[in-house]
Amino acid sequence: MNKYSKSEIEKAITAFPHWYHRINLGHGIYTHNRKTIHEELWSILKNTFPENIENSTVLDIGCNAGFFSIEAKKKGAKYVLGIETSENYIQRAPEKNEPQDQILKQNYYLEQAELCKNILNLDIEYKKLNANNLHELEYKFDIVFFMGVLYHLKNPFATIEAIGNICNDTVVIETEIISENGQNRVYYHKGKTGNISEIEGKKGMMKFIETNELNCDNTNWWIPDTECVKGMFRIAGFKYFSEPCYYKRRRLLILASKNENPTLNFKALS
Ligand SMILES: C[S@@+](CC[C@H](N)C(=O)[O-])C[C@H]1O[C@@H](n2cnc3c(N)ncnc32)[C@H](O)[C@@H]1O
Repeated sequence: MNKYSKSEIEKAITAFPHWYHRINLGHGIYTHNRKTIHEELWSILKNTFPENIENSTVLDIGCNAGFFSIEAKKKGAKYVLGIETSENYIQRAPEKNEPQDQILKQNYYLEQAELCKNILNLDIEYKKLNANNLHELEYKFDIVFFMGVLYHLKNPFATIEAIGNICNDTVVIETEIISENGQNRVYYHKGKTGNISEIEGKKGMMKFIETNELNCDNTNWWIPDTECVKGMFRIAGFKYFSEPCYYKRRRLLILASKNENPTLNFKALS
């Protein structure tokens, strides 16, 4: 039962200058009405979830206003933790006349997450924690959402290794990628001194983003290709992968697990 009235919800939403996540708050009210990637993703991803995940704990890294945390809780997860950075992060260009400084100083996503959770009356925990500091977490998790975050990290491999340390079962990975077009090349050397052969590699690469070339967003640092993503997660201890799902041009959705029989149905990702 929603204890907030329609006008209270509307007022609370408009108190924020911007919403990234589109969340259904009841009474026919959504946080905004633009088309979103996360809803498109969930329409695919939900097919991989069993009816109920009551035995699973879930960590949502870069949870924003909690869209995926909420979906996990609605699926019955026994514990859901969403974490967000306290650092400045902005996904959009400033509105006309909006001072850039002012926007960059705010990260109100956790406040939005708390608001949505309270309106929906869901038992979810949110915490200010940078993805660089996953070692500070006290528990391990069965399912980890790592969606739309990899390319925001200066040191993504360090975080991926930390995910390997705190995830018991499956990580749901979503990221921008370089397409493997067969024309990309790196050269490396194999063998001992005096008997070295040059090997041509066509995949397993990551592109450094020096300024704001990716989505005009200067908080983006890296774009990997699919094989690079898989390789980093393999080194972090994940052995089993779903087929890659390219739900949009240059966007990858993939599941990686430590278990041969993971909680999520990998075959349903197609
Ligand atoms: C593109 S949004 C994706 C949000 C959500 N995971 C989704 O897929 O809809 C990236 C989110 O990651 C958060 N973020 C970026 N860098 C982070 C970091 N180092 N630690 C934690 N969260 C971070 C941002 O604040 C933002 O909410």
